[in-house]
Order: sequence, then structure tokens, then C-alpha cells
Amino acid sequence: MNSSKPKILVTGSAGFIGSHIYDLLFGMGYEVYGVDDLSGGFIRNVSQKKFFTKLDLRDRTKTATYIEKIKPDIIFHLAADATEGRSQFTPFSAMDRNIVAYKNVLIPAIKCGLKKMILTSSMSVYGAQQVPFKESMMPQPEDIYGISKMSMEQTTRVLADVYDFKFVVIRPHNVYGPRQNLSDPYRNVVGIFINSLLHGKSFYIYGDGMQKRAFSYIDDVAPAMVKAGFKKECEGKIINIGSDEPVTLNDLAETVLKTFYGGGAGVPKKILPKHVPDRPREVKYAYCEHKVAEKLLGFRSKVKLSEGVSKMTDWAKSIDKQPFIYLTSLELDHPKTPKTWTAKLI
Ligand SMILES: NC(=O)c1ccc[n+]([C@@H]2O[C@H](COP(=O)([O-])OP(=O)(O)OC[C@H]3O[C@@H](n4cnc5c(N)ncnc54)[C@H](O)[C@@H]3O)[C@@H](O)[C@H]2O)c1
Repeated sequence: MNSSKPKILVTGSAGFIGSHIYDLLFGMGYEVYGVDDLSGGFIRNVSQKKFFTKLDLRDRTKTATYIEKIKPDIIFHLAADATEGRSQFTPFSAMDRNIVAYKNVLIPAIKCGLKKMILTSSMSVYGAQQVPFKESMMPQPEDIYGISKMSMEQTTRVLADVYDFKFVVIRPHNVYGPRQNLSDPYRNVVGIFINSLLHGKSFYIYGDGMQKRAFSYIDDVAPAMVKAGFKKECEGKIINIGSDEPVTLNDLAETVLKTFYGGGAGVPKKILPKHVPDRPREVKYAYCEHKVAEKLLGFRSKVKLSEGVSKMTDWAKSIDKQPFIYLTSLELDHPKTPKTWTAKLI
């Protein structure tokens, strides 16, 4: 390992995207540390256990002690409660795991001489504006998760200006692929669909299924995020990263079924998707333009949905069905709370 290279910290390094980022950086020969509380990540995703620390970043004192020990030059911040659709029902979790945990990392890191923050934000900051979302649009989040990400972005911009560190804001969208948490009934629609089929059950589609998203394969997203962390041209920029192939949820369902069962006739009748009412504040059309990523990073997403779903299905079959794990209770409950969660239908 080259000691003249910067020291890097990846938060959320046992999670889906964070573990891929960690491995890419480690493979490039960096001294790279990983931290995660394993609330949504898995130790099986951690390739370098001796550089890994299990820590809840909501704990301000322990996090400061950890950061003072590592003294990272660069941080890729991915730790989060990313359950966007649930965030209206678990706002403490969204705020604490996103805004508070981020502040707990950022402030001691600044004190220790942080040079660059690569903040993983989200497409959710755009809300329900005209698609495709462009980086030049003013954030207008529709949900608590989006509000938390917007706050993290703005905190970064202000503190970077005052304390003179560099930053890049990445806004990925609908990322999927191997290592994604299949046990989460609240998010990761591709994973929920595939895991339901592994259980021999049908899956649920909220609303009419005509919501549009561009599902982005991890092998397109993670390398672009790493590249953005090192390119001078990306400093101070906001960059959308993801696929240019918007599809409806119904299209996604068809692709998953076709991949899993090898075509229409092979799909058992009891497995056909069931439609349930919309989730409160779910944005109907949400996908991004990627001209900034194309210009700054030469980025073009390459993996088509059918290919990505096929690779993810192979991986999911290799680890086999996973139990869906629900919270014991939501922080707020309401008649609008999706029945899929209250009645544990997924
Ligand atoms: N997956 C996507 O489609 C997507 C899209 C846009 C943005 N993002 C963002 O990318 C990042 C990674 O998302 P992901 O999909 O890999 O989710 P993930 O849940 O797999 O990863 C997040 C990780 O953060 C960890 N974490 C949560 N709270 C923590 C805490 N208090 N202390 C320490 N660790 C904590 C979890 O254990 C988990 O491993 C998140 O910031 C998310 O908001 C993801």
C-alpha cells in the first residue's frame, strides 16, 4: 500500500453501494477504512475486516473518537437510512441516520484536516419536477428522506466554503445489483420482487404500476462515483449518476418474472403481481438526465435492465431466499400506512 496516497474512509461500507465503493478503492491500492453499524448492511459484504469498524454514527462521541483516530483525507459518505417511501412513517430514523450521523462524521473530520467529501445524496431531492431531472433544478423534495439529503447537501456546501475542503455531491438513482439488502420490505423494489419469487410468492405493486424509474446497475454506478471522487473537474459539482432507460414498474415486474421463470408461459398464475393503493407522496415520474456526468466523467450507463436483472437474479439465487425483516413498530402510524407493511404482506 502506498503511504503517500490519501487515507480514505467509506461510511456505510457494509451496505450495498458502500461495499462496492470500498472494494474499488481498496483494489486501487488506497489505505481505506470502512465503518457501518450493520443496521442495513452485512458483514458478508466486508472484504477487509481488519480495516472495518462497527459503529453507530449517531453516537457523536464515539464517532468523533473514531474519526480522530483515522484522520481521513477523503470521505465517501454512504451511511444512511435510505428507506425513502417509509421515511414519512420513520422520520426520526431518517433525520438521525442521515442528517445527524453525517454531521457527527463531518465536523470532527474537518477538525482533523479533511480534504474532500464525496457525499452520496439522492435523486429524491428533485421531488416531483419535470423529468428528466437536471442538476440545475432547485431541490423540491416531496418526502422526509429527500429533505434529509437536501439538508446534507446544503450543510456540505456551507461548511466547505468556510473550512476550505473540497466536495462532490453525487445523486444516484434506483441502484440495484448483487449485495443489495434483500430482507428489506420497505425499499429496493428489484430486490423485493426477486426475493418474493425466491419465497414462491407474488409481489405487490403500489398504485397502477405506471410510475417510471431508471434502474441503475451497480457496475455502472460505483466506478463512476469513485472516479468523481478523484477528478478535479468534479469538485464543487452536483452529479446525477444512473441509467438512461426509464421503465414503468409494470415493465420491471415483467422483466423480473421473465428472467426468473424464463418467459410468460412459465410464470405460475398465483405469482402474478398484485396491485395495492399508492404510497403517500410517492413521485410518479422520477429519472435523471446525465449530461453533467457525461461531460465530467465520460459517463454512459452500459448495463441494460434485462442484463442487470439477470445478473442480480443469479446472485440472489446463489445466496437463496432471505427473510423479510420488519421494524417492530413504525414511529408514526396512520390509516395511510401501506397495508403491505402493517399486515406484513411482503
Ligand atoms: N440504492 C439506491 O438506489 C440509492 C439511490 C440514491 C441514493 N442512495 C444513497 O446511497 C447510499 C447507500 O445506499 P445503499 O442502497 O447502499 O443502502 P444500504 O442500506 O445498503 O447502505 C447504507 C449503509 O449505511 C449503514 N448505516 C445506516 N445508519 C448507520 C449509522 N447510524 N451508523 C453507521 N452505519 C449506518 C447501514 O447499515 C448500511 O450498510 C445511501 O446514502 C443512500 O441514501 C442509494
